[in-house]
Amino acid sequence: MNLERLQRAERQLGAKRLDALALVPGPNMLYLTGLSLHLSERPSVFILGAGGERGIIAPALEAPRVSQTLGPSVRVFAWSDEQGHEGAFASACEAMRLAGRALVVEYLQMRAIEVKAFERHAPGVRLSALEEQFPTFRAIKDADEIEKTRRAVAIMEAALRETMAAIKVGATEREVAAAYRMACMNAGTEGMPFSPIVASGPNAANPHAVPTDRRIQNGDFVIIDCGAAYGGYVADITRTFAVGAVSPEAEQVYRLVLGANRAGCAAARVGVACGDVDRAARRVIDEGDFGEFFIHRTGHGLGLEGHEPPYMVAGNPTPLEVGMIFTVEPGIYVEGKVGVRIEDDLVCTETGVEVLTAFERNLIRL
Ligand code: GLY
Ligand code: MN
Repeated sequence: MNLERLQRAERQLGAKRLDALALVPGPNMLYLTGLSLHLSERPSVFILGAGGERGIIAPALEAPRVSQTLGPSVRVFAWSDEQGHEGAFASACEAMRLAGRALVVEYLQMRAIEVKAFERHAPGVRLSALEEQFPTFRAIKDADEIEKTRRAVAIMEAALRETMAAIKVGATEREVAAAYRMACMNAGTEGMPFSPIVASGPNAANPHAVPTDRRIQNGDFVIIDCGAAYGGYVADITRTFAVGAVSPEAEQVYRLVLGANRAGCAAARVGVACGDVDRAARRVIDEGDFGEFFIHRTGHGLGLEGHEPPYMVAGNPTPLEVGMIFTVEPGIYVEGKVGVRIEDDLVCTETGVEVLTAFERNLIRL
């Protein structure tokens, strides 16, 4: 249990006259309670009332671990496989007086099974989205979270350095991805926070390509977008490597993306709107006449999830605050021809930003 975070969440609910928050297993539940449960066919929901009431609906087989982690201040509404979950939802909704109340839930996590159970057992309950009510819920990281991210970055960069030996003419994208996975596990990652992207030649023009059996050829760009996790915190990097002699046009695309990356990082500091970080990066690519080929936002927050607020996207007025961790990752994708993305991880500090990723950004020729 993280009392400071729980009390902050209670204050946030109170300030917006919201009555309670209900979280299913996932990053928000982990963040507030330290509980790491599976989001499975057996529903579990942690409920926090604005007045400090705390309860959890949990499968009976998890109840001992749940009680031990949460302590006596949280009431456990356990249900067995034979009983099913409806009775536990009914008891929790009654005990926490949720009927007719304003309940905040995770639109990106909670499923129809939980929503329908709340609607059945708390008639008149008014649901709203955590993502809209509190868009920066986990966005400001404390020193411990920043340190864990640094460790994740170190693991990821060590693994990427080792993987470079596998990027060669004749190797398949799948083989390079496997080399990264192995190197990253050996370097100490807690698992793969997301499947590494390895995209060569024309495949690099697909921002979220899945590694294929295509063999790397002389003159290819190879994009590697890969991550690592430490203490639950995710690092995320993209580098684009040249194999052999790439065309002058491809080198020009690389220079533009690198310029956009540098401009995005330079624009980021406390108080700057996330949309303006996007604008700074995008301007470089627009001015190079490749604007139509930069087909995604400039970046996203990083933390317990690989994509989380704040988003560096046009029109986002959210100002950067000290402790926010996010990516700057402009790209150019010309279908059937070329793709380049260069991604770094940054933390906003009192005096500017610290770029957590140190991996070489100038074009590496293999
Ligand atoms: N890789 C870019 C994005 O998903 O925003
Ligand atoms: Mn990313």
